[in-house]
Amino acid sequence: GRAWRGVIEEYRDRLPVSASTPVVTLREGGTPLVPAEHLSALTGCEVHLKVEGANPTGSFKDRGMTVAMSRAAEEGAKAVICASTGNTSASAAAYAVRAGLTCVVAIPTGKIAAGKLAQAVVHGATLLQVEGGFDDCLTVVRGLAERYPVTLVNSVNPVRLQGQKTAAFEVVDALGGAPDVHCLPVGNAGNVSAYWLGYQEYLADGLVDRAPRMWGFQAAGAAPLVSGVPVPDPETVATAIRVGNPASWGLAVKARDESRGCVEAVTDEQILAAQRLLAEREGVFVEPASAAGVAGLLQVHARGGLERGLRVVVTVTGHGLKDTATALAGREVSTVTVPATVEAAAEAVGLA
Ligand code: F0G
Repeated sequence: GRAWRGVIEEYRDRLPVSASTPVVTLREGGTPLVPAEHLSALTGCEVHLKVEGANPTGSFKDRGMTVAMSRAAEEGAKAVICASTGNTSASAAAYAVRAGLTCVVAIPTGKIAAGKLAQAVVHGATLLQVEGGFDDCLTVVRGLAERYPVTLVNSVNPVRLQGQKTAAFEVVDALGGAPDVHCLPVGNAGNVSAYWLGYQEYLADGLVDRAPRMWGFQAAGAAPLVSGVPVPDPETVATAIRVGNPASWGLAVKARDESRGCVEAVTDEQILAAQRLLAEREGVFVEPASAAGVAGLLQVHARGGLERGLRVVVTVTGHGLKDTATALAGREVSTVTVPATVEAAAEAVGLA
């Protein structure tokens, strides 16, 4: 087979680009759809993980960023800007390098994981620490983009969602049909909206005969779509989805309702347990927010709300290496130090 070319070239006729759009890409997308054997056995369903941490910057954001950055370059932008809990900024910083644009990222003070901060730094983005949370960051960058010549690459830029919808195409292309249920974490609510766009598009074009139910999961301390009102001070260990007033609120509600799905809350404890289960039982290391979809699936299963035999896809949105501090917090890391001999090593690990 030929090499994967990135989401724009793979799905060009479904994306808002033309022959004259310069393609800014790191060959994102084409991520693994991994059968989840443990989760399947546990639930009696056929569960697959869409492993988005396998994207070039370690999260699904790259799918939207390739389109947003290509269009910004085409339109002659000199600078791009975004608000972020860390993954959008990592992606924007990397793609801005490819595009030759300067990049400013607004991040909530002290609330982004170290790996994500490192990404923005190594790619040379200008870091703007905003006193407040993600929602405040987004308000600031929207204001800047309105008043100054700088292109906003958050998912309020509609081409971002267009790029992200390609993940739904890939799921269908890999399975040969739509799943029954699609689970994923919800923060600013762009991704659930983008998947729904993708499934609806394939449905309209007759490439699937139905769309899945969309099941979105928010962290309990940051669950405005569950309560129905913005959360002024969102709090969760899953910093990626620490969002109190999602920009794509309306689109997410539409995805939920049109698909006859749901948006529910899961606790930080459930999220961390799901993160651990994925690591220990499936061999997939994800960041905390990324485990919310699995936590949610298990929650629905536990109350008897999951029919056996369904085909379920869970998007795990970002790589575990983004946030090693949380993964190691409260865990005993026991190592044995030995002299550099086979005998000593064999004894230390119980082989001899
Ligand atoms: N999972 C991860 C790892 C994320 O980084 C995000 C969002 C989500 C899930 C939720 O996706 O916002 O489309 O509902 N991160 C944004 C950011 C907020 O700034 O990187 P969503």
